[in-house]
This record gives sequence, C-alpha cells and structure tokens, in this order.
Amino acid sequence: MKQLTISKIKEGTVIDHINAGKALLVLKILGIHPDSTETVSMAMNVPSKKMGKKDIVKVEGKFINEEQLNKIALIAPKATINLIKDYEIQKKFRVVLPEFIEGIIKCPNRNCISNSNEPIIPKFHVWFDGEVIAKCHYCNKKVQEISEYI
Ligand code: CTP
Ligand code: ZN
Repeated sequence: MKQLTISKIKEGTVIDHINAGKALLVLKILGIHPDSTETVSMAMNVPSKKMGKKDIVKVEGKFINEEQLNKIALIAPKATINLIKDYEIQKKFRVVLPEFIEGIIKCPNRNCISNSNEPIIPKFHVWFDGEVIAKCHYCNKKVQEISEYI
C-alpha cells in the first residue's frame, strides 16, 4: 500500500513506528493534553510492513528533546524519531530506553511512600527483559504492564 494517511509536515517532530494503540499514551508522556496549543496530527492502526499495524504522531513547529522522547520507549520500544526541517528529515533515530525515570508512572503499591500524601515524585529503575520492566525506587514493586500505570 502506497498511501499517506496524514500529511507531511514542514517542521517539527514525527514519532513513527509506535505500537498500535499507544499514540494517546505517547501524547500523555510528552505532556500534550487537551489544553495544549501545539498542532498535533495522529494516525492510529495504520498498516506497516515492519509492525503489521502502527501509530504515528506528528508535532508541528517543535523539536522535542531527546531525553523527553526516550521516555516513549517505555511503551513503544521500536519508535523512530524524525526531526523535520523544510520538509526534509534532518535527523532520524530510535528511542533508547531510559534506565531511570521520574514522574511518569505511578507505583501500583498503595502503601508505597510515593502514593502517600507526601510530595514525593515516583521514581523507577527500568530495564528490558523480553518486555519493559520498571521497579519502584522506594518499595521495589515491579511493574510489567507499564501502559496501565501512566
Ligand atoms: N514525514 C513527515 N513530514 C516530512 C517528512 C517525513 O511527516 N516532511 C514523516 C513520514 O510521513 C514518515 C516519517 O516521517 O511517517 C519518516 O519518513 P521517511 O523516512 O520518509 O519514511 P520511511 O522511509 O517509511 O521511514 P522508516 O525508514 O523510518 O520506516
Ligand atoms: Zn513503590
């Protein structure tokens, strides 16, 4: 199939090869919410040779920094980033799973200090073992279905 689902952009960040169905969580990780002013286009469940189906997110007029983009690897380890300028791809790279994350996922352990009334930012150690696994810095609770805790 040779068909463009969403238009090319003049300038900004294209996040491609997102696992099908995860585009909305990608927006959440990037801090893009209903009140945001960025121009964002998105395609969900589009056919992909490599992945069967995939999602795509395009954020116009903004070069999202690499550290921020790497957080996407938590839910979409195969995501590719394309930084676009004057319609041309200036840089293309794969996201890299961060070893440590702060403030993205909530600890599933209700008794964890990060779920108390204390102003404590949740922190997790992260690694890949067949799937992405996160372990709470405070209570050591392991999280496997990370999407459910974002
Ligand atoms: N893209 C865009 N605007 C541009 C250029 C590219 O939105 N001005 C998007 C394309 O639609 C695509 C992604 O950026 O989703 C990567 O573009 P390209 O490298 O041309 O496509 P592929 O070769 O299919 O990418 P890959 O090799 O990463 O699979
Ligand atoms: Zn915890």
